[in-house]
Amino acid sequence: MGIKRRHSLTYKQTLVTVMTVFVIGLAISFYQIAVDLKQERLRVDQMVNQVLHVLKSPAAQAAFNLDNSLAQQVVNGLFDYPPVLQVEIRDDVGGLLAMAHRSRVDSSMRWLADILVGNTKVYQLPLKWSERVTPVGVVTVSVDPYLVTLGFFDRARLVLLFSIVQILVLALLLSIIFYVTLTKPLMKTAASFDAINPADNTGARITMPPGHEGDEIGLLVDKGNRVFEEYRQHIWQQEEAEAELNRLRNLLSNVVDSMPSALICVDVDFRVIQWNRQAEQVTGIAATQAAGQNLTSVFPRLAQEMGHIRGAIHKGLSSHDQRLKFTEEDAVRLYDVTIYPLTTNGIDGAVIRVDDVTELVRIEEMMIQSEKMLSVGGLAAGMAHEINNPLAGILQNIQVMQNRIQGDLPGNIKAAEACGTTIESVAQYLAERKVYDMIERIREYGKRAAKIVDNMLSFSRKSSRQMEPHDMIGLMEQSLELATNDYSLEGGLDFRQIEIIRDYDKDLPPVCCEASQIQQVLFNLLKNGAQAMAEHRGSAGGSRFILRIRGDSRSVRLEIEDNGVGVPEDQVKRIFEPFFTTKPIGVGTGLGLSVSYFIIKENYGGDLFVEPVPSGGACFILQLPCG
Ligand SMILES: Nc1ncnc2c1ncn2[C@@H]1O[C@H](COP(=O)(O)OP(=O)(O)O)[C@@H](O)[C@H]1O
Ligand SMILES: [Mg+2]
Repeated sequence: MGIKRRHSLTYKQTLVTVMTVFVIGLAISFYQIAVDLKQERLRVDQMVNQVLHVLKSPAAQAAFNLDNSLAQQVVNGLFDYPPVLQVEIRDDVGGLLAMAHRSRVDSSMRWLADILVGNTKVYQLPLKWSERVTPVGVVTVSVDPYLVTLGFFDRARLVLLFSIVQILVLALLLSIIFYVTLTKPLMKTAASFDAINPADNTGARITMPPGHEGDEIGLLVDKGNRVFEEYRQHIWQQEEAEAELNRLRNLLSNVVDSMPSALICVDVDFRVIQWNRQAEQVTGIAATQAAGQNLTSVFPRLAQEMGHIRGAIHKGLSSHDQRLKFTEEDAVRLYDVTIYPLTTNGIDGAVIRVDDVTELVRIEEMMIQSEKMLSVGGLAAGMAHEINNPLAGILQNIQVMQNRIQGDLPGNIKAAEACGTTIESVAQYLAERKVYDMIERIREYGKRAAKIVDNMLSFSRKSSRQMEPHDMIGLMEQSLELATNDYSLEGGLDFRQIEIIRDYDKDLPPVCCEASQIQQVLFNLLKNGAQAMAEHRGSAGGSRFILRIRGDSRSVRLEIEDNGVGVPEDQVKRIFEPFFTTKPIGVGTGLGLSVSYFIIKENYGGDLFVEPVPSGGACFILQLPCG
């Protein structure tokens, strides 16, 4: 820490002292000189008067007698004295008896002498002679005061010179003294101040310059140490407070970040002041980027909520909007948006909570759907029960009817003859009127209805007795075999032309189930897939199934993926409903998936759903718990 010499205390103190001493010294010197000057003037007067007094008698005598030579002698006598410039003696009527004159000596100090002691000093002495009342003449002497006071000027110069030397010596001494006693210890103390870092906790203190314990420097050091101590204490308290503040801030931001909702705070100008992790995820914008930005520029989807945000800020109103639709990358997602005023001293902004409820809504809808299916399933089963008995009666009677119109049974031949006809003509008539065909068709329709009723009955058929552990790969392969050999597959498709890719996990756990039920489900799914692929291509060419079986200790997941027409988005929920079919009458009953769904859900507590295949087609997923 350097101080310019001009600003140093030594310099300032010395300068002030020396200036003071200089002024005082000069004043004293001038006073001395002035006193000296006054005395010098008096001395000149005295001296001239004394000389005039001595020469008074001879001069008076010369004037009285008008003796020119005596007068000249007196004049010469006076003129011997060098300061005398001019001497003249005149008689009482002004006649000049004698005179002498010389020029003034020139000198560099002459101007000063002229100011201080005057230019020329003239003395006049009237000359008296014995009893005469009036003077008999007059002596006039002009003196050059400069020459008289030459000694004075020498003395004055000496006095001034001495004063200056004295002051210079004093300045030097004072500089040294001030430096040693003041500047040096102060500089040391300052260096000691510099060496201390108030922020470190070593307890370092300013060193006391030796011998200054009781004086002002000591006081300064003591005060400095005390200030440092208080400052350290203060810093320590501040650090504690900051640590506590940071801890609370962390806690708060962790709490806010762990919330599953996007939480956003804006100030009264709609600028973002809080942006939690969920908000980062929903928008893909980091909190650091969002801070200070206008809400609509970082979360444009909230533009429709600006009215409510304004209401919260200006009127303190809260709002809760449910199931708002935001389109994101072609997918529609649903959000609940809650807005409430942010109040501290007054209203400082608004808090916006955005919850993604897409999944929740989906689950809700699924639950409603499965409830609906359960009730429809129950209804169908009830109806099937009621229809089952009359249908059995119809089928049985048809069977009997067919028996009774056959030509070769003795009972029939006898009954015809009894009626006066032959069984042949009856047969001929029935054939002619196509009654055989009609009866056969009634039987076929009846059997078909019986098959539907049987399917419908399985809605209420609970788990059966033969629950045993089964290997899922085995069941899948058996179902495949069944489908391959099922020539009743409608639509003329041939299972053997379908490429089958198998992707089975090894070491799959066995699943406790009734083999025929799972086979029925898998058969339904395979049959649907084959039909969807045939529909897609008009034939089974290029069709392929990917069959996957994955499993862990808790469940086994079977996937049947086809490359068929796929399930349109709006039908995904409906395909599991009983009697929902897109196939022509006679081809589809709309019961395959619903029966499968009920078997898996009701009998096994598993799950059956469909997922779209991006390249086209549908993937039916069957999940079965292992237990
Ligand atoms: N793999 C599939 N690909 C495309 N659509 C399918 C598939 N499986 C089922 N579906 C659709 O689901 C409907 C219902 O199927 P399902 O219950 O088996 O009845 P059905 O096969 O008698 O029509 C079908 O009509 C069809 O529209
Ligand atoms: Mg089907």
